[in-house]
Amino acid sequence: MPTRATHTHTRTHSAPARSRKQDAIALLKADHKAVSGLFKEYDKAEDDRARKVELATEICTELTIHAAIEEEIFYPQAREAFGDDEDGVALLDEAEVEHGSLKVLIAQIEEAMDGAGPDEKTDAKVTVLKEYVEHHVKEEEKELFPKVRKSEMDLAEVGEELRARKEELKAEGANGGMQHLT
Ligand SMILES: [Fe+2]
Ligand SMILES: [Fe+2]
Repeated sequence: MPTRATHTHTRTHSAPARSRKQDAIALLKADHKAVSGLFKEYDKAEDDRARKVELATEICTELTIHAAIEEEIFYPQAREAFGDDEDGVALLDEAEVEHGSLKVLIAQIEEAMDGAGPDEKTDAKVTVLKEYVEHHVKEEEKELFPKVRKSEMDLAEVGEELRARKEELKAEGANGGMQHLT
C-alpha cells in the first residue's frame, strides 16, 4: 500500500514549480516514476526512430540530473544523518557504485544518440539501463528511503535543496553546447 506523507492534491499547469512543497523523498520518488514512464514510452516507440532519439536523450538527461542531486545533496545528507549506522552507510556505498554502472551505460547511449541514432544495440542498452534503474530504484525506495525517513534528516529542507539544484541543472542542460556569447 502506498504511503503518502504529503498530499499533492493539485496539478495545475500554471502553478510555478517554486511553490510546490515536496519533501526530499517525495521528490526523488517522483523522478523515479517519471523515468519509469519514459522507459515504457521508449518500448512503445518501436520503429519510430525520431521518437526513440528524443526519449533516449530525455531518459539520459533525467537520470544524469537525478544522480547528480542524489550524489551532491541527498546521499551526503543521509550519510551524515546515519552517523555510525553501518547498514545505512553500506546502502549508500552500494548506491554510489550502482550510479557508476548506470553512468557507463548512459554515456554509451548518449554517444549513440549524438551519432548515428538508435540501432538494435541501443535498444539492448536501453533495456539493460531500465533493468539497472529498476533494481537501483527498488533498493532506494524499499531500503534506503525508509531508513532516511527514520533518521534525523530534515526532509523538507533537503527537498528544497534538491529542487533548487535540479532546476539549476535543468537550466544548464537546456543551454548545453549552445552557450552563445551574451
Ligand atoms: Fe540513486
Ligand atoms: Fe534515485
